Formats: sequence, structure tokens, C-alpha cells
Amino acid sequence: MCGIVGYVGGQQAAPLLLEGLTRLEHRGYDSAGVAVLGTSGVRVAKKAGRVRDLSDELPKRFAGKVGIGHTRWATHGPATDVNAHPHTDTKGDVAVVHNGIIDNAAALRQQLADDGVDLVSDTDTEVLAHLVARSDADTLEGKVRDALALVDGTYGIAVMHADFPDRLVVARNGSPLIIGVGEKEMHVASDLAALVRYTTTVAHLDDGELATLTATGFTTYRQDPGSSGLSTTGKAATTVDIDPAAYDAGEYDSFMYKEMLEQPAAAERVLRGRLDERFGTAHLGGLNMDPRETRAIRRVKILGCGSAYYVGQMGAALLEELARIPADAEAASEFRYRNPVIEPDTLYVAVSQSGETIDTLLAVQEVRRKGGRVVGLVNVVGSAIARECDGGIYLHAGPEVAVASTKALTNMFLGFALLALQLGRVRDLSIADGKRLIEGLSRIPGQIAQILEREDELAEVATRLAESESLFFIGRVRGFPAAREGAQKFKEISYRHAEAYQTSELKHGPLALISEAVPTVAVVPDDELTSRNVGALHEIAARRGPLVVVTHEGVDLGEVAAVRIDVPRNERELDPILLTVPLQMLAYHAALHLGHDIDKPRNLAKSVTVE
Ligand code: F6R
Repeated sequence: MCGIVGYVGGQQAAPLLLEGLTRLEHRGYDSAGVAVLGTSGVRVAKKAGRVRDLSDELPKRFAGKVGIGHTRWATHGPATDVNAHPHTDTKGDVAVVHNGIIDNAAALRQQLADDGVDLVSDTDTEVLAHLVARSDADTLEGKVRDALALVDGTYGIAVMHADFPDRLVVARNGSPLIIGVGEKEMHVASDLAALVRYTTTVAHLDDGELATLTATGFTTYRQDPGSSGLSTTGKAATTVDIDPAAYDAGEYDSFMYKEMLEQPAAAERVLRGRLDERFGTAHLGGLNMDPRETRAIRRVKILGCGSAYYVGQMGAALLEELARIPADAEAASEFRYRNPVIEPDTLYVAVSQSGETIDTLLAVQEVRRKGGRVVGLVNVVGSAIARECDGGIYLHAGPEVAVASTKALTNMFLGFALLALQLGRVRDLSIADGKRLIEGLSRIPGQIAQILEREDELAEVATRLAESESLFFIGRVRGFPAAREGAQKFKEISYRHAEAYQTSELKHGPLALISEAVPTVAVVPDDELTSRNVGALHEIAARRGPLVVVTHEGVDLGEVAAVRIDVPRNERELDPILLTVPLQMLAYHAALHLGHDIDKPRNLAKSVTVE
């Protein structure tokens, strides 16, 4: 959420900053801005709208070899030119870009106003520029340190100052910042996506760290406890193994489409080397748990947000079915506000693509504060949640850029299957069942590919669904989290009202809304509930509700008039993910038909790093 870039080196900064911002636009696309430091001091250009609107209007001569840039997802104040970052002090010597939220911004704004400072924007960030300018420290590092000492909240910031024209100072508390080391130049960004084109030699800042970037290198610092000084932390850069092409949409019209098609390969990666066919189990060394600790687990609580929460519900079902451990999933955004009881024999599992979602991160910290053990199912290696956990399973889905999560979600499900297999096999899952599931898991990548091959058929169904203002997605037990995720994807990018319900609950209220104008997408796996599900389909059809049924080949839907989408059969426990994949395609094609920007759905942004 929100993107930061910065550059100091021998090249003109503005084109590099704009390129970096384009690569971060999925993190926020309300407004964008850049500031450069040239011979005439700090110059700022910023604008509500997309990065391309900003580039179109950037003055031809916007010279300077030090610069910062920002793409915004509005928190304090609407998306206007004035509220766009960078923000400056009154004289225009200091420029700041910021991700995160300054919690005491209102009080700081009041103090500044009382001192006669004219605040021009509605943002919390502007106070930082004034606070840096007012510090009487004689270094930029000292000024930034003084400003941050007055601030409560989360931030990733990049600061430049006309009096210190050779450097940028950056700082992190809760919002990621990565330094990229180039040839006689330094970059900084809130996401690797903006760096990989220039360098894969990087250093991740930790919370509480500051850094100075000059053309020749970087130095990291931490505030000395109990003093106003800074001591160096001596952080060194390392090379990350990433293919820059993974951050390009290439021949595809959107990242979401590309990432959906990448699912078979991504699924193979998460399973690779982790399945033990001989003993019917999974090897998950990263969990850092020995069999004795594993057997001592009495309950599993899964924490995630949005789609990660829904796949967490699928994960809970897998854990209960395979490992026979009571398990449930809860929205991480609610968890810590109800003063949860943290039990020593409960295993907490945080699930997150980005590893940055603030609600999930704070839930993990709450569990750890109270002595609980948390493992992570995380895609982004080295991310805040991954680092905060006691162990975990990396998802290896590769970079996910589209706001609507697809391949990461599939790999989350498979990560849960591996976890359930491993926990199951040290409890009462038989070797035969373990082997049966391994065989099923091995078939998943190919079966996902088979579903994706039916794109034309799914596109046709989606086009019809897109005509309705309102839809239901229904399912029971194994099918319900798939229905929730299907509704989530559909509403996110098509902006249609898509509501998920348990099929069994329809009669208790929502059936009143069923009509010719309100289609239902029903998830009906071939399981012990099929006949009951089919009964509900009759009830919908009797009220003239159009039906799309995602089911298995051979399931008898009786006389119900429905468009059916058959998915391949696998082991029943693994059904949820195969039932979810066609729902992604329905959402994608509905949004495409409606002419929406697939990768930048309105009001949303990738990685929610503010509460
Ligand atoms: C939906 C979607 C979001 C995320 C949620 C959690 O398509 O992507 O609902 O699943 O914001 O994000 P992560 O997984 O990064 O913690």
C-alpha cells in the first residue's frame, strides 16, 4: 500500500523515479509525485491520478541526480494534487515521502499551527517535513532522528534536504524499505519490484533503522537507547535470486491473467522436495518443530485477512480432517481487539502473501507477546511476518503483482495441505491415507492447467454473470470457503455485489432476494452433501434464480436448469482449490467484459500496510 522510490547517483533521477513508480503502482494509484534536488534546490511535481498523468505533465527540464517519488493510496485526506507526496516544509528545502500512518498527526499539526506553521495539505506526512526542517541538528540524519522521535505510528520514509545535496536519508518502522546497490548509485524502494531492473544487490531495513544513501554507498543506523545519538548497525547488502522478468506482465494484458496462468508452475514449486512418498508425509524443515512438539498441539488457530482468511478456512478444514486437530480460521484484523486467550498448546498460523499486512503482523505480535507459538505461510521471503514467526512454510508462488490474489492463494492451500499431512502423520493419519493425499497433491498442478484450458467456456459464463448487479455465491462445508473466495474475487474486480452464503442458510433469509435478476454461483462438490446441495438448487430454480454450478463430472443435478462447470476429481479433501480456480476466471472475465482495470481495482491496493 503506497509505494516509495528514491535515487542518488550519476544519472538524471526523474526518469528512473517514474519508471520505479510505474512498477509500484499496484501499491496505490490515487496520486503520484516526485521531487528532485538540482542546482536550483528541491523541485516537486505531483498530481492526483496515475503515474502516467504525472509523467505527461512533468516539466521537460526537471534536472537533478538525487530524488524521491511516491505513489499514493489515500489515508489522511482525499486524493488531490496537494495531498499527493512528496511533502515539503514551508521554505521548500525538505521533501519527504512516507508510507504508513502517523498516529499523533492531529496533535503535531496543532502544535505546528500554534507555532505559526502554515500546513497546506490534509496529510499526516506533511508534519514530518516541517519537523525535519525545524530540527537544529547539524546533519540530515540527526534532523530525521529528531523528527521521528516526536512521531508515533508506522512509517517507511525517504527524505532529502537542499542543504545536504549528496544524500537521501531513509527510515523504517513497520513499512518496508529496501536499499538497492548499483554501480556508483544507490536506489531505495518499498518493494523489490521497483529495484530488480537496476540491481539485485539489496539490503532490507529493519524496524527502527535509519540509513544514509550517497552515490558511493549506504550506512545504516539505529537510535542509541536512552540517548539522542545514532550508532551504525553495519548492515551489508546481499544478492537476491530473482528473475526481473517475473515483475513484467510481458505478453499478457494484466498481471492477474499472467498470475492465474502461472498457477500450475507455482503449485509445482510449493510441493517440490516436500513430499515424502515413502512414508506418506511432508517435509517442512522450516517449521522448526520436532515430532514431540508437533504431537503436543491441541488446537490450531489460523490468522489472515481477506482471501488469505478464506483460504485459512480451507486450511482449518484440512487440518481437522487429516490431522484431527480442532482448527479454525479468524480474520486477523479482528483477532487482537477481543483480547484473545493465547494457549500454549495451540499452534497459531499466520497466512499472508505479502508478509506485510499490518493486521496479520499485529495479530502475530499479539500472540508472541502472550507466549504463543506462531508459524507463517508466507510468500514474500524475509518479509515482516515471515521474520516475526517462529518458523514457517514459504509458498514459492513467485512475485504476485495483481491486487487480486490468485497463484499465492492456490499455494496457500497447498501449504496448508502439506502442514496437515505432516501434523496428521505424527498423529493418527495412516500411511495409506498419507500416500493417497500425496498422489492427489501431485495431480493438482496438471488439473489446474486443465481448468485453465477451458477459459473460453468460462469467459462466456462470466460475460452473462457480469450483466447482473447482484449475485450469490453459495457452498457448504468444503464448498463454502471456495464460495467466499469466489465472491471476493468477483466483487473486487467486477464491482458487482457478490455475496457468499452457506447453502444451508439460504432458507433462513437470503432466499427472499432470489429472482431472475439475481444469479447464484453454487459450489457443489461430489461429497456426502451433494443431494442436499442439489435440493437447494431446486429451491433457487423454483424462484427463477439463474444458476451456475461448479461441480464434478458425473454429479447428477436432476432436472435443475443450470450452466455447469465441471472440475476434475481428486481426493475429496483437496477439492476446495480445484473448485476455486474456475471462480477466478469468472471474476477476471466479468471484469474484462465490463472494461475494468483488472490490476488496479478501484479503492484497493496490494498489501494493506495500514490499519
Ligand atoms: C484479495 C486479496 C486480499 C488479500 C489480503 C491479505 O484478492 O488479495 O484480500 O488476500 O489483503 O493480503 P496478504 O495475503 O498479503 O496478507
